[in-house]
Order: sequence, then structure tokens, then C-alpha cells
Amino acid sequence: MKALVHGITLAYDDHGTGTPVVFLHGFPLDRSLWSQQVNALAPRVRCIVPDLRGFGESDVTGPYSMRQYADDVIGLLDVLDLESAVICGLSMGGYIAMALWKYYPTRVRALVLCDTRAGADSDVARGNRDVAIGIVQESGAGAIADRQLPALLGATTRERQPELVAYVRAMMARQPVEGIVGALGALRDRPDSHDTLRTVTVPTLVLVGEVDTITPLSDAESIMAVLPEDSNAQLDVIDGAGHLSCLERPAAVTHALADFLAAITTRAY
Ligand code: MLT
Repeated sequence: MKALVHGITLAYDDHGTGTPVVFLHGFPLDRSLWSQQVNALAPRVRCIVPDLRGFGESDVTGPYSMRQYADDVIGLLDVLDLESAVICGLSMGGYIAMALWKYYPTRVRALVLCDTRAGADSDVARGNRDVAIGIVQESGAGAIADRQLPALLGATTRERQPELVAYVRAMMARQPVEGIVGALGALRDRPDSHDTLRTVTVPTLVLVGEVDTITPLSDAESIMAVLPEDSNAQLDVIDGAGHLSCLERPAAVTHALADFLAAITTRAY
């Protein structure tokens, strides 16, 4: 499906009925990241799954920032006439989820923060973003895929699931160069979100792959450390998964999401 949001066209899937849940993909990926969770959960909740601007089938048009991606999500909720939604984001999708809480807390019904972190980039990480921008401009998306892929997936996944490795590489390699460059700038310039997380009052699930090396367990613990009691925050570690936990251990992630969504729709928060 397509929606006109802030003058650009966003592609998205919209499956199921019930509590709306927006699934936000990471970098440099697209909405197919979440397809297994969406297939499993659509009989229970409404799954809304956009391609962020610059990715997948959405328009490749700037500006690019975490705030802009968050504005786009709100624009999509407006088009769909939805007051609020559960926001579930992986990695960069998690940064956007935090921006959504910061700027639009009344539109956020609950948060799921998967394989993500609250901290801003260090100076070294910012420099690496600039190096990556140079690489993708010079050599294309395939070069970024080759650079990033080894860290994205856990060692066991890389060893035992070659078809998944190929699937993720293909997803990365088909993303538009301009969208990747824009996202790298947005990642580099994103703010620290610890203070934002200190204000969270909605139920929050923090998920992390056990062997995630990009946003390791210590990052999930640092999110947990600042989430207030009101958020009833819970941490779930996905055994054996790396950074792309929802692809590497899809059933385990679906299970964790299903439990969390069942609890928030039955409990009075
Ligand atoms: C992602 O998966 O979205 C990225 O690895 C996030 C990042 O590089 O900070």
C-alpha cells in the first residue's frame, strides 16, 4: 500500500485488526525485516509496517533525521486515522521509536525496543559513518552490505543459515544509495536518548539478541537502567541471536512480542 505523507509516498503493509502495532526496520533494510512476525501476529493485532523514507519502495527524498522519520510515522498514523499505536523498532527503528516518544508521547501506546541503544554515536562512530558514506557513494549499496553483514548476524546464524545470510545481503544491496547516505547522516547526528527514556510512562519491552555485537546486552541494560517503574519495563534476551534477532530467531521474537502485546491489551495500565 502507499500513503502520501509530508509530500512523499511511503510504502507500507497493513495486516490484521485490533491494537495497532507499527514495526520499524533497521539500517540499511526495509519492511520485509518484520515479515515473519507480521504473518504470525496479524491474526491478533493490526500490523502496520512502513518502509522508511529512502528505503524499500518508499520515495527517496530527504531530509533525513530521526525526527523526520518519526514525523513520517505520525503522518502515516494520521492517514490511517489512528490516535496511537504500539511502536516496535529494531536498531535504527528503535532510535526512531525513542524520537516518537520524545516528540509525540500521546501517540505511543507502548514501546518495543529491539537490538538498539539509547546513546548517541561516539566521535569514532561518527567518523565511521562518514567513511561509510564515502564507501556507499563510491561503490554502491553492495559494498555497505559486505562491510556491515559480518557484524549484523550472530556467528551461529552465519554458520548454520547461509540462506539467511544471502537474504539479508540482498535486502541491504537493493537499498537506494541516496537513502543509505541520508540514513548514515541521521544515525551519525542522532541525539542521546537516555533523558527521553527517563520520561517513559507506557509499557516497554526491551529485546536483545544474546550475541548482538552492534548493540550488545550492555546497551539493553543501559536502557533498562533509565526506564522508570511506570513503564513496567521488561528485558528479554533472545538466545543465540545476533543484531537481527527477528530474522535469526523469528519464533522466539514473535513469542516475546505476542506475550507482551497480550499483556498490554488485557492489563489496565
Ligand atoms: C541498524 O541496525 O539499524 C544499525 O546497525 C544501527 C546503527 O548502526 O547504529
